[in-house]
Amino acid sequence: MTNLRFRPAVLSLPRYKPSKSAPDAVKISSNEMPTPPSPAVLEAIARELQTINRYPDLTAAPLRQALGNRFGVGADQVCVGTGSSAILVAALSAVCQPGTQVVFPWRSFESYPIAVPTVGADPVPVPLLPDGSHDLVAMHEAITADTVAVIVCSPNNPTGPALTYEDIAAFVADVPDDVMIIVDEAYIDFATKPGVRTAVPLIETHPNVVVMRTFSKAHALAGVRVGYAIGDAEVIGAIQSLLVPFGVNSLALAAALASLTDAEGVQCAVADIVAERERIVPALRDLGYDIPDTQSNFYLLRGNVYGLVDECARVGLIVRPFREGVRVSVGSREQNDLFYSVAAEFARTHEIGA
Ligand SMILES: Cc1ncc(COP(=O)(O)O)c(C=O)c1O
Repeated sequence: MTNLRFRPAVLSLPRYKPSKSAPDAVKISSNEMPTPPSPAVLEAIARELQTINRYPDLTAAPLRQALGNRFGVGADQVCVGTGSSAILVAALSAVCQPGTQVVFPWRSFESYPIAVPTVGADPVPVPLLPDGSHDLVAMHEAITADTVAVIVCSPNNPTGPALTYEDIAAFVADVPDDVMIIVDEAYIDFATKPGVRTAVPLIETHPNVVVMRTFSKAHALAGVRVGYAIGDAEVIGAIQSLLVPFGVNSLALAAALASLTDAEGVQCAVADIVAERERIVPALRDLGYDIPDTQSNFYLLRGNVYGLVDECARVGLIVRPFREGVRVSVGSREQNDLFYSVAAEFARTHEIGA
């Protein structure tokens, strides 16, 4: 029994629940890419191994410059961290203190209700619309004088729908300019819906907007932990000052830089996932499953579907149950076919209606 004087909030923090894993099981539960990054990226990591006795570049200058070039902003408008999860906490802690509130959609990424009390603020979750998309009107109404930040997740994890640029622009225009608007674009590379594109151009007119991105998804680099934020230079500077110094290791920096250079490799991998998504999701809907529109590398099966989790486990597949349904990541063609066969049998033998 420890006598440490923990902050009361720490003891009541919800714990992040990783998806299950088992030896030899195939995980289609954490929205990872099913294949490793391209040989060029793996070679860059291998080269970097020769100098791991050295600290990484403290300012991650080459990566920030490359990202700045890519998005048409200055390197001082980009910061990198150990996954966008770390940047989320740093960004929130720049504006949160006891008595402040953070508005976010719910159900959404499970780090949000953990990160907000972590930095001492009160979470204000706003229910999604029935189609699994953000209720931007309700989110706007939830903003009070105590609100210091709002999170938008597009595409939304775990439901899948994405907001168009125009939707986000209209929302941003209505939010007071002293409220930080975090736009989490972890999955945007998989979006194909017309009008869905990055919110980065909004930072020019709205310095309260911070766009968060990650190398964990489309770039297939979840294991090395690197994410980034783009925003107004002053805001990025504040976030940067709260990030752990030398947090992003040299292998991650090299991998991210090589992955940016290998844009074609990333695009091909993303195109494969999108093609599989477009093949598998309509086929599952034809079986009677209720699946919201998905602009991401996963889809959510809603209704009476929890039994699928055990049926999948029986054939060595791990999928992710949530209160709102079962989320399945788009995997390789073989993995998707295996999931489809389990889902087909389940639909044949169960009442799956929503
Ligand atoms: C919506 C969303 N944002 C951010 C992240 C965090 O990504 P990372 O910390 O790996 O960069 C995830 C991870 O699953 C996510 O689903």
